[in-house]
Amino acid sequence: MRTWKSSAPPTAAIDGDPVTPSGRTRTIALIGHPVAHSLSPRFQQAALDALGVDARYEAWDVPPEELSIAVERLRSGDLLGANVTVPHKVEIMRFVDRPDALAERVGAVNTIVNRGGALEATNTDVAGIVRSLEAAGVELQGKRVTLIGAGGAARAVVVAMRSAGIERLTIVNRTPGRAAALLDLGGGDLDMRYAPLDASDGTFASSIRTADVVVQSTSVGMAHGPAEGESPVPAEWFRPGQVAFDLVYVPEQTPFLAAAEAAGAQPVGGLSMLVHQGAESFRLWTGMEPPVDVMFAEARRALAERQHST
Ligand code: ATR
Repeated sequence: MRTWKSSAPPTAAIDGDPVTPSGRTRTIALIGHPVAHSLSPRFQQAALDALGVDARYEAWDVPPEELSIAVERLRSGDLLGANVTVPHKVEIMRFVDRPDALAERVGAVNTIVNRGGALEATNTDVAGIVRSLEAAGVELQGKRVTLIGAGGAARAVVVAMRSAGIERLTIVNRTPGRAAALLDLGGGDLDMRYAPLDASDGTFASSIRTADVVVQSTSVGMAHGPAEGESPVPAEWFRPGQVAFDLVYVPEQTPFLAAAEAAGAQPVGGLSMLVHQGAESFRLWTGMEPPVDVMFAEARRALAERQHST
């Protein structure tokens, strides 16, 4: 991984067409802090190589005080664009030229495209969520969905569910105020409710039992996190015919997914979301159909290697 150096001067923009052969290798950056753990460089590079795109996907570890300088660097003609990850997804909106309506709605940017020095910004997490469920054969129209968590990832889930035409969305969270902020993203015909993340509270259990799809967006169950090995939902609350979608992908088989599977529900893992949001970003930078199978295989390989090395 090349390291981010804020002292390097940006070069002038040369054109706005991402894949015009320019005789030199182009760059796509991942802007985050930290970034060393990210799987994106592995599966994005595999996709670029598979399609013969002369570009390198680089992880830039950018501390908050250097964010504006890093964004300016993206205007260079050498840069096709960037992915943006924690902790910059919200803050970076101030520095780009054109956040689109979707990015504004989610309140976060995860993808920037350099169009001749102008930085267009969007959010492909929403498409990643929808495509992960589509790929698993899940039809969302008219469904009842329960979403656990109310952080940044949950915001993209709410926007995705609304656009997919679900009937009911129950948000379950530990902190009521954060769920209330998400309820404001509703509107239209969508029936939105809140339930506390408290196993002794009947509304939580019934929101799971009556859901067609349960989406888990908290860090509960994440490897090396504060609630490693735990599931926010006990297996007894799941049933066959339901879909359980965990946005956590380390480990690939989370306790939440294991609980759902034990009860006969259909598990959908977070690696799918990671790959599909990346695939949508790839499409925007290159204008090419992303090789999703290549990306998935490489992401899985990178994850397995990391698990063996820890
Ligand atoms: P992200 O961008 O990944 O969604 P975030 O914005 O920090 O991250 O949100 C984390 C979510 O996980 C929140 O819903 C948080 O609950 P609170 O709003 O109550 O803080 C939830 N979360 C994190 N750790 C948790 C835990 N141990 N138990 C329950 N919920 C937890």
